[in-house]
Amino acid sequence: HDTKTAPYLTSDKTSFAYISARDRWPVIVTGAIDDTYRSVTQCDDAEKRDDGKKIVEELARLKYELQHDRQLTPIRDDGLPDVAPYNDELEKLGTPTWFAAPWLYCECYLYRRISTSFSLSTHWKNYDVFARQKINTFRSSRPAVIELAARYKDLVTQMETDKVKTDEEARKLLFTEMCEICLWGNATDLSLLTSLTYEDIQKLQGSEARKASEKNILVNDLGAAYEVLKKAQSEGKTERRVDIVLDNAGFELYVDLILAGYLLSSGLATLVVLHPKSIPWFVSDVLLGDFAALLGALASPKRFYETPSDDEKLQDKTPPPLSDKEASELSFLFQEWASMHGEGQLILRPNRFWTHAGSFWRLPAEKDLIDDLKSSELVVFKGDLNYRKLTGDAAWDPTTPFTEAIGPLGPGSGVNILALRTCKADVVVGLQPSEDERLRAMEGGGADSGARKWAWSGKWAVVSFSGGKEV
Ligand code: F6P
Ligand code: MG
Repeated sequence: HDTKTAPYLTSDKTSFAYISARDRWPVIVTGAIDDTYRSVTQCDDAEKRDDGKKIVEELARLKYELQHDRQLTPIRDDGLPDVAPYNDELEKLGTPTWFAAPWLYCECYLYRRISTSFSLSTHWKNYDVFARQKINTFRSSRPAVIELAARYKDLVTQMETDKVKTDEEARKLLFTEMCEICLWGNATDLSLLTSLTYEDIQKLQGSEARKASEKNILVNDLGAAYEVLKKAQSEGKTERRVDIVLDNAGFELYVDLILAGYLLSSGLATLVVLHPKSIPWFVSDVLLGDFAALLGALASPKRFYETPSDDEKLQDKTPPPLSDKEASELSFLFQEWASMHGEGQLILRPNRFWTHAGSFWRLPAEKDLIDDLKSSELVVFKGDLNYRKLTGDAAWDPTTPFTEAIGPLGPGSGVNILALRTCKADVVVGLQPSEDERLRAMEGGGADSGARKWAWSGKWAVVSFSGGKEV
């Protein structure tokens, strides 16, 4: 069940795929090589070191093949069930070269290839080659993390006041703000970091930036999603579940938990199911270990923020201390989330489907997963890659309705979908006529180059809903 609309290709000079494959991926693989090398040299066990050196060599080989536009080779059998589907599809595609392949397949394949080198090793099977980068970036988003922790505590307290209890408009506003925080948390993912500085990230994250960015949400269906949750609540359904198909770890996971915590505290949901990835994915995506790392950081915020990182040690820098107020606001979050997790209201449910190469047009064929998602009131898909997968990463006319572009996941699928996505790739749907032209004409928008450059940087966003339970 794939869309007939043509997919974006790494050979298309006007697509972000072209730049990604040639410029961004080699940088990402180099980062993986450096990280592994660093861990290997820090390792005391000689056998483990040799095992690690082999991985470094394999990654270097992968980089060579990529940069020399060699054919993609079959994924080696590491015993996991997705090897056959990856390889069958590779064959069906005619075993393309790196720079002449469907973007979506090729980029997923890249991360699956990297993970194979680790899964086939003896001592590094569960090593997350991007973990260091993920936690360091979270640490550097400290100002926004602290600002939000204070705001969250306020909100949870406010929800107990009579005004918010009785005032429907205030409740809807809160929902909108929470979802928008969660949306913009996606603006900074590590795979785009090859070109952004840490200062840039901090600028993107504060509340001023959030307000100013509201005009950058090109499609905003939050109202429809709110109605769905409100209806379930007013009908008195005992289990009201919301799912979040996660994207990135660190700051984005933090804002996802802010949303999850708010949904549970407000009664808009009684259960939130989070869906992480099973292998290191698109640099910054959430693995189970990232959830634990985030809670660990919040459990002892002073230790986390005040202990100098390796780089700070090298530069002889001491991070500024956290105030007691800041530390207590962060601990408040930890207690909230840890107790929701402990009580089974906030759970994580991995599934290998999320790291397959295919689009979500294939989701209805995954019987168990789709049946599970049907029990949810609302399934929130975070981020750019999830949006690309929802829409088949295909070159739709940008005015195509979202419900059409998601094919079999649209009306009648039994799944209510909300995509929260900042645009970091070419595909976009659901726009008003001539909106794409207007954006292209703006500075840096692509003009008449044939490239939709405005959609590459995370500056613009789309929030799209599909009522799949409607027929
Ligand atoms: O467009 C750059 C890119 O790395 C894409 O390859 C990928 O779809 C996306 O960003 C990852 O972003 P996100 O973390 O939002 O899915
Ligand atoms: Mg991601």
